[in-house]
Amino acid sequence: MRYKLVAGNWKMHGSLAENQALLEAIVPATRDLARVDVAVCVPFPYLQQVRDLLAGTHVMWGAQDASRHAKGAFTGEVSADMIAEFGARYVIVGHSERRTYHQESDALVGAKCQAVLGAGLTPIVCVGETLEERERGATEEVVARQLEAVVDAVGAAGLSRCVLAYEPVWAIGTGKTAAPEQAQEVHAFLRRRVAERDSAVAEGLTILYGGSVKGASARALFSMPDIDGGLIGGASLVSEEFVAICKAAQ
Ligand code: G3P
Repeated sequence: MRYKLVAGNWKMHGSLAENQALLEAIVPATRDLARVDVAVCVPFPYLQQVRDLLAGTHVMWGAQDASRHAKGAFTGEVSADMIAEFGARYVIVGHSERRTYHQESDALVGAKCQAVLGAGLTPIVCVGETLEERERGATEEVVARQLEAVVDAVGAAGLSRCVLAYEPVWAIGTGKTAAPEQAQEVHAFLRRRVAERDSAVAEGLTILYGGSVKGASARALFSMPDIDGGLIGGASLVSEEFVAICKAAQ
């Protein structure tokens, strides 16, 4: 079912003190927002803290990755079931920073997505092209390939339980936000590709935009027909910015 969502991706930022101060500002300021879900995806060590601070509030929480494996000799990995034990709702999979720094393949992202669904959680599946790929006109080819790997792994039914996030790599952390029309074009393409498999799943799919979203740019982006909210990096660490983005999603 399609819904408005603003999810913060804290990446590798935070401390127990900073997290508490940030959430104590965000929760009351977003409590009465209608028709938009709010979530924060935090580093693994903070799952207990955010559960303690957010349980019973409207703000949901999640992680930024999960192992493709359920358990075993995989040093340093964290399973989706372990994340679920902390009351999480979401797990980001396939973020471009993991595809790049950890050489995560499309197939691995599909397998992680399957593991997250298997634990009863909601994957936020990231797709997006690099500047080089965009400049050679390969944007649709790239995001279609990344999307197909997920659909191959979980099927249309599985995809209906996911959230998709279009994050042009050239806009992440650069301050260069995609123009609303530019982002809308790719969001509409993604929805059309899903519709080729299942029109009902396509219509009900929540597709977020991520890439240098700020309070000032959010409303124009979220006004686009196929942009259902945002996956927010840097601005999610600044309560005033994150709250402004959540308000813009109403
Ligand atoms: O996952 C969201 C992130 O990649 C966007 O980062 O800092 O450009 O909002 P930022």
